Amino acid sequence: MTQMSLEQKIRDKSAKIGIVGLGYVGLPLAVEFADKGIYTLGIDIDMAKVESINRGANYIQDVDSGRLEKLVKNGVLEGTTRYGRVGELDIIFICVPTPFTPNKEPDITYIEEASKNIAEHLRKGQLIILKSTTFPETTERVVQPILEATGLKVESDFNLAFSPERIDPGREDFTTGNTPVIVGGVTERCTQLAVLVCEQIIEKVVPVSSPRTAEMAKLLENIFRSVNIALVNELAQLCDRMGNVDVWEVVQAAATKPFGFMPFFPGPGIGGHCILVDPYYLSWKAKEYDFHSDFIELAARTNENMPFYVMDLIIRSLSENGAPMNSAKLLFLGISFKKDVDDVRNSPALKIMELLLQRGAQNLSYNDPYVPSVQVNGSTLESQELKDATVRDADCIIITTDHSDYDVDKIVKNAKLIVDTRNATKSVHHGRKKIVRLGSYK
Ligand SMILES: NC(=O)c1ccc[n+]([C@@H]2O[C@H](COP(=O)([O-])OP(=O)(O)OC[C@H]3O[C@@H](n4cnc5c(N)ncnc54)[C@H](O)[C@@H]3O)[C@@H](O)[C@H]2O)c1
Repeated sequence: MTQMSLEQKIRDKSAKIGIVGLGYVGLPLAVEFADKGIYTLGIDIDMAKVESINRGANYIQDVDSGRLEKLVKNGVLEGTTRYGRVGELDIIFICVPTPFTPNKEPDITYIEEASKNIAEHLRKGQLIILKSTTFPETTERVVQPILEATGLKVESDFNLAFSPERIDPGREDFTTGNTPVIVGGVTERCTQLAVLVCEQIIEKVVPVSSPRTAEMAKLLENIFRSVNIALVNELAQLCDRMGNVDVWEVVQAAATKPFGFMPFFPGPGIGGHCILVDPYYLSWKAKEYDFHSDFIELAARTNENMPFYVMDLIIRSLSENGAPMNSAKLLFLGISFKKDVDDVRNSPALKIMELLLQRGAQNLSYNDPYVPSVQVNGSTLESQELKDATVRDADCIIITTDHSDYDVDKIVKNAKLIVDTRNATKSVHHGRKKIVRLGSYK
């Protein structure tokens, strides 16, 4: 197959798409392509996910279950664990995890593994697009050599590009179709083909000069968030110390400036798979060039200290209410890493729970409408039903994630003491004395 014919196949929608890694990024992407009538095969090593897709059963919150079921029924979307089917495909997206090691160094073994598995079945004319967030030069220095070890070469035989994912799970205004993406190919032709594929499902696709540029741009986006969140987290601690300024009011006030300011809000720490993890990918890479990124380190230090800071706030608030932490009944509300999602990866709520248990807390429970059970310090905790009596019974309610479902007014009415790390109680007017809000502690 020539490259011209790959272009033609993309244009007439007969190109077959493969998505390697069917998680938060991969499954929504697969559904978008399939929904355009383009045959899409998802490849995952997790048999449970593959079986679920083939039954038409959705497991990702952002994906519409009816839509997925219909696509599977129509034979346009399928799942498999067999890399042997790579040869059938024209374009393959890699959407596998890129976590960090316990020492906070990049762990790109999933990308390497997926690339090796693809390489075993690589054939002329294919286009491979890496989407996993990673440090600059991964596409050219890690993926390309693995694929070229087959004897096939980029451009003359196959095409390779990097196009980072920008999905924000739980968000409804910006979804896959209307969020612009950037694309950087190893060669100009690789970029052109990758742009053309992405344009099948995304309104605006922005080409950049290389995969390294696209890799670095993705990290900049997330480091930008990490640094700005760290700034307001620091400000929240200052406001707590001053005792007479409310950081939430300060940020809202500053946000009335129509230019040159973008509001970020404090919280119990950052979690998830991206903002906490990605900055470390760049600081690690920078060291190869004898370069130390102080901004990244400083932001990480401030943000990763927040769960410890909130733990102290809880212990202090309890003791001021005459309830020693060890015997107090502590009820956490919202333990996913952010509002209205079910993802608990690196969640600061879990970190705070772990810290309190390590310091002798005996009676700790949680409610989260999105998380039925969770592992904390090796034990399984189950979400408690949020009855009035449960709230009344707790010595302290800790709002770690302000899910929209929560009836905050009712919770405040029933609670003895609330530590609110999200400003969820901002518009509640009765009984303020029992509410301790991060960044406005008095
Ligand atoms: N979750 C987000 O909001 C988000 C947003 C932007 C970018 N990203 C990036 O996208 C990438 C994927 O993240 P995610 O949240 O979708 O991860 P995820 O853990 O939800 O999904 C990854 C999937 O890859 C599968 N997998 C692992 N190794 C594999 C292999 N060798 N072959 C086939 N499948 C394999 C896993 O079983 C899993 O289903 C990461 O680099 C992440 O940083 C994530």
